[in-house]
Amino acid sequence: MTGRRMMAIVVSALAALAACDQPEMRDQAKVEAYETASDLPGGLAEQPRPEGVVARDERIAPAPPRPETTLALLRRGRTLYNNICAPCHSYTGDGRGMVVRRGFPPPPSFHTAALRRAGGDHFYRVITEGRGLMYAYADRVAPEDRWAVVAYVRALQLSQHVQAASLPAALRMRLPEGEAVQ
Ligand code: HEC
Repeated sequence: MTGRRMMAIVVSALAALAACDQPEMRDQAKVEAYETASDLPGGLAEQPRPEGVVARDERIAPAPPRPETTLALLRRGRTLYNNICAPCHSYTGDGRGMVVRRGFPPPPSFHTAALRRAGGDHFYRVITEGRGLMYAYADRVAPEDRWAVVAYVRALQLSQHVQAASLPAALRMRLPEGEAVQ
């Protein structure tokens, strides 16, 4: 009896294996790993990386040096922040983004004293590794772009706490009535 059962198991295992190895599926045209894809000039390795794609080994690589804050960096950061972070953190960074207004647990405001004191590397690290309920954005935001987002978050923080007296006169005049006296 055990012998027959054993035989039955072996036979069904062989049948299953044969099913995986159907010649038509095995032999269909495909590009093997590391093989040059003949219809792409230079093969796959030479193809430009699509915009916004983060290479696997760049996700958690050591942070690149923090770039100088330029208008271009802030603009890049604004685009990324508005697309990726604002749904939760809101366009102004007060933590009341649309997802939160629909029930997602609210993140802290970026305008607290503690987060204004926090170094830029704290923000870089949270983007890379996530924190608590917030998942990591390392595979969606490239390392240089993380610094762009950090620069923009800094600009948001400044926008809520700047001393009116420190603004140039031309800007001060554009403040709403009452806000110029800070
Ligand atoms: C899906 C919603 C969501 C998105 C998108 C999101 N966050 Fe968060 N974030 C949170 C929540 C929730 C917390 C609070 C996490 C906790 O403490 O459990 C948080 C916390 C943080 C903190 C930590 C604040 C502290 O207390 O130190 C920083 C910094 C931060 N987020 C930055 C960002 C940046 C920058 C982006 C965009 C790249 C982003 N987050 C995208 C939900 C989000």
